[in-house]
Amino acid sequence: MAVSIPHGGTLIRRIADNQEPPASLPPIEIDAVALSDLELIAIGVYSPLTGFLGSNDYKSVVERMRLADGTVWSIPITLPVTEEQAAGLQIGERFLLTHQGIVYGALDLTEIYRPDKGQEASHVYRTTELAHPGVAKLMSRGDVYLAGDITLYRRSAKSYPAYELDPAETRRLFAEKGWNSIVGFQTRNPVHRAHEYIQKSALEIVDGLLLHPLVGETKSDDIPAAIRMESYEVLLNEYYPKDRVQLAVFPAAMRYAGPREAIFHAIARKNYGCTHFIVGRDHAGVGNYYGTYDAQLIFREFTPEELGITPLFFEHSFYCKKCGNMASTKTCPHDASEHLILSGTKVRQMLSEGIAPPPEFSRPEVVEVLIRGVRATVQN
Ligand code: ADX
Repeated sequence: MAVSIPHGGTLIRRIADNQEPPASLPPIEIDAVALSDLELIAIGVYSPLTGFLGSNDYKSVVERMRLADGTVWSIPITLPVTEEQAAGLQIGERFLLTHQGIVYGALDLTEIYRPDKGQEASHVYRTTELAHPGVAKLMSRGDVYLAGDITLYRRSAKSYPAYELDPAETRRLFAEKGWNSIVGFQTRNPVHRAHEYIQKSALEIVDGLLLHPLVGETKSDDIPAAIRMESYEVLLNEYYPKDRVQLAVFPAAMRYAGPREAIFHAIARKNYGCTHFIVGRDHAGVGNYYGTYDAQLIFREFTPEELGITPLFFEHSFYCKKCGNMASTKTCPHDASEHLILSGTKVRQMLSEGIAPPPEFSRPEVVEVLIRGVRATVQN
């Protein structure tokens, strides 16, 4: 398979090159998640979307994981504003989209609608509990959704200049490297040995790996992206073949929507040019809201053709003391007592106390970066 065709057939680009936004338009202030979505639409990560969803597409995405025309789409990309902000907006008009007063884009307003957020939560997150960070975020945002095509006038400041590659750029890069099959790896965590194991298992059968950590908004107890980025650099430098891995950031917000987000993550990586996508244990999950393999099972609801990217499923992986290597229950016959398994919460706690998880769990070079970074964050 050559570098994949963008979702819907065309890589969307809605950037007003070298143009100033029309100063006379009225502004609408948007939140950080909407700003990230605005940019992701504009650079084609959300192809075929050209703007924020209207009510027909929204309803269809919420209820059946498809846009109104049938294209697979699992997470509603919406522009929420407050009732006060919505008052007086005229359909058919153009507005500037600002964040913290800075103009980033424009919206051609086609619709104003009020979503049923309870229904959105129960379909997308499979729960309406506010203890779920994705549901809490949904409920905290404005109650009115605006729809319409967008134009991007300004990119947000680059935090990781070397790694901020748009889909057009990763596609070009993959072609230059001569990679025909590329596996995408989503993560919001440091790369531990289990992650490394599944990435390298995938690398045995494809040409290249796109290590694609999410650096948009995450919940407060996830390890900050800046620390993670340093840990990825160290890991790649020491343990990965340089000509088979590309590190780049995925600037989307984390939704913690488990199965639905796995589909969304896969489609976004297809737009970046990946042909394969790794889905392991409890992908994009949080707490106990999703079954360990729900994010794999959901792929059965779509045909390979309509997804256009091949998921690579991995069992829960761990270090087995008896085997003396990384394994999963697919490859290891030993008792669970031989398996080294640490929860994310436990690992974060150890790091903040300056305690190193064992090298069978995480590479020492990675641990060193994490302890330094996490302790500095705790002290600030
Ligand atoms: S995520 O929220 O970004 O999906 P995380 O960074 O923990 O979380 O996981 C990145 C990818 O690795 C996901 O596909 C996840 O399912 C997979 N994964 C994480 N830990 C393991 C593990 N121990 N065994 C198998 N897969 C795993």
